Amino acid sequence: MQTGTHVGCEHGVCGACTVIVDDAAVRSCLMLAVQAEGARVTTVEGLSNIEALSPLQAAFRKHHALQCGFCTPGMLTTAHALLSEEPGASRERIREVLSGNLCRCTGYVSIVEAVYEARSAYVGKKGGPA
Ligand code: FES
Ligand code: FES
Repeated sequence: MQTGTHVGCEHGVCGACTVIVDDAAVRSCLMLAVQAEGARVTTVEGLSNIEALSPLQAAFRKHHALQCGFCTPGMLTTAHALLSEEPGASRERIREVLSGNLCRCTGYVSIVEAVYEARSAYVGKKGGPA
């Protein structure tokens, strides 16, 4: 079965495997399954429903913030966790947080712009937009 969460380096370096565990972005390749017991785990599939893209996903599409898409699930989950906690994050802060997620295609500018634009959807919504 094809899933959104990708396996890249398997060493905690690339961020492609990032999921959200109890509101924190976590590299799933570094986590044992038993550590997730009792935790709420959200993959990229959980960021939206089947009827519509989330505001963050829509911003990625608008800004062409992906090319091959391999890094995208990790970028989205990392950015979602960030904006859920810091909806006023500056471009510098977004760039700092996303620096742990490797993208070989985009050059990051479009990704940072997409995340920056999506900030308004998170203001006043603890845990992110529904
Ligand atoms: S696969 Fe690269 S950080 Fe997990
Ligand atoms: S879009 Fe290809 S690795 Fe980021």
